[in-house]
Amino acid sequence: MTTKIAVLVSGGGTNLQALLDAQGRGEIPGGEIALVVASKPGVFALERAEKAGVEALVVARKDYPDTDAFCEALLGTLESRGIGLVVLAGFLSILNGAFIRAYENKIINIHPSLIPSFCGKGFYGLKVHEEALKRGVKVTGATVHFVNEGADEGPIILQKAVDILPGDTPESLQKRVMEQAEWKLLPQVAALFCAGRLRVEGRHVHIV
Ligand code: GAR
Repeated sequence: MTTKIAVLVSGGGTNLQALLDAQGRGEIPGGEIALVVASKPGVFALERAEKAGVEALVVARKDYPDTDAFCEALLGTLESRGIGLVVLAGFLSILNGAFIRAYENKIINIHPSLIPSFCGKGFYGLKVHEEALKRGVKVTGATVHFVNEGADEGPIILQKAVDILPGDTPESLQKRVMEQAEWKLLPQVAALFCAGRLRVEGRHVHIV
């Protein structure tokens, strides 16, 4: 059976594009990107979805009185379409416990560092790379993990290391981490999930 995938975005959507391209090459055989949800109107990720012929919607936190009402609406949208895998690809809005429990071990997130370094509350986008450069680490990378109620604390699925080079800026590092790690890892994990090859045991994920 095909797993319907929803990709939740807040920005440019280069990770969404990596998923769409991988799907186009037949690399996610057990899955189908069925829906893209943006947390605000006007983001470029919506154009990428439309161009690929994928249903694209905006579900904005500011249109709801609180996080619970927002999450209930989002959950209803996903459930009504039979979504079986939720991919957070640079998604900025907070998801509540009810949402996370409804999709337990069915939500994956891409984070642009090697967790547990440079992660948790406030670590998003360029800020992650700024902090890695400030700390002087020689290697960074990206992580795909299942989402639980802690910030970047869910079970780690795959990680990939990327070298930091002399003269790197947050921007140059972000680009290298995306090209060498994020755009490869995320489609790989989506394919493993849709093939039923991920087993979660406590904090550990086994690839079977
Ligand atoms: C990506 O680098 C992703 O890893 C990061 O936001 C960017 C979104 O870019 N996510 C986080 O920092 C999550 N804490 P994109 O819209 O081009 O895919």
